[in-house]
Amino acid sequence: TRTPVTVTVTGAAGQIGYALLFRIASGHLLGADVPVRLRLLEIPQAVKAAEGTAMELDDCAFPLLSGIDIFDDATAAFEGTNVALLVGARPRTKGMERGDLLEANGGIFKPQGEAINAGAADDVKVLVVGNPANTNALIAQSHAPDVPAERFTAMTRLDHNRALAQLSKKAGVSVADIKKMTIWGNHSATQYPDVFHAEIGGKNAAETVNDQAWLENDFIPTVAKRGAAIIEARGASSAASAASAAIDHVHTWVNGTADGDWTSMAVVSDGSYGVPEGLISSFPVTTEDGKWEIVQGLEIDDFSRARIDASVNELAEERDAVRKLGLI
Ligand code: NAI
Repeated sequence: TRTPVTVTVTGAAGQIGYALLFRIASGHLLGADVPVRLRLLEIPQAVKAAEGTAMELDDCAFPLLSGIDIFDDATAAFEGTNVALLVGARPRTKGMERGDLLEANGGIFKPQGEAINAGAADDVKVLVVGNPANTNALIAQSHAPDVPAERFTAMTRLDHNRALAQLSKKAGVSVADIKKMTIWGNHSATQYPDVFHAEIGGKNAAETVNDQAWLENDFIPTVAKRGAAIIEARGASSAASAASAAIDHVHTWVNGTADGDWTSMAVVSDGSYGVPEGLISSFPVTTEDGKWEIVQGLEIDDFSRARIDASVNELAEERDAVRKLGLI
């Protein structure tokens, strides 16, 4: 039998945690033949709730789940971790300024980055889900100097999946018929879902749909504001879909993208497509053997350029703000 892969999940007692842990334990994160050992990190007040979730995980009798440990200390939680899912974050509350939000999250992601640096496995892969995800990932990465920067990623896969769903409805096709969707930039309302390089059944998606008004006035805002629409409808923020996207992100990273397709991940920029080096921005990426690569050579027209720039400028502002706060 294979040695178990250690997966650390922060915010384990939260909504996304509750939807995520059972799918990790049932083999959807890494594969149906890969045993996992879970390490859960919570704040002290939520440890009891995490213990309750762990009781339920036991009660599922998952053959692949080889153990669960619960911690309220980051250093212990990331000891030996191969896959780190950073879900727990400080949400924006009423009257909170962006600076306060970034500072509160710096207080979470700086020590977690340090803990990953100190004790994670050599092959550690990090996915930041907790918002503001891109900048939280940047904070964690900047406090883990011994871990290659490309191991820190942030989640735009939910946006990617939302874009696939909207386009499939519009075109009357299955999501499986759509390839090469791209989310550019920040996981925020400025993100740019790009269908100009996407394909439906092998043909260009934008040309197939041939409806620029829909693209501008419906598709892009629907994808970008979907989180708010879910809160409005459900009375709670997206959790199962976010957890599913986190599963997809890591599964694709580890197992590779299909030939003729790519995915969207927020990864450290090497300057591709004019995105300043070092920003953690969403790009079209292919993955193979546990490594990602930004898809090169796509033509970006003026329409796309303006939208990518707007989102990337927001990321640069967030980076400048956390730099000013001494968080990176
Ligand atoms: P939640 O509030 O239900 O759960 C968050 C959990 O994190 C709580 O149990 C809390 O105790 C824990 N936590 C807080 N600080 C922590 C720390 N320092 N260490 C460990 N745990 C800590 O929130 P939910 O719905 O599970 O969402 C989690 C995060 O994911 C939020 O920041 C949310 O905005 C973000 N999100 C990101 C998405 C994306 O596409 N990137 C999509 C949906 C949500």
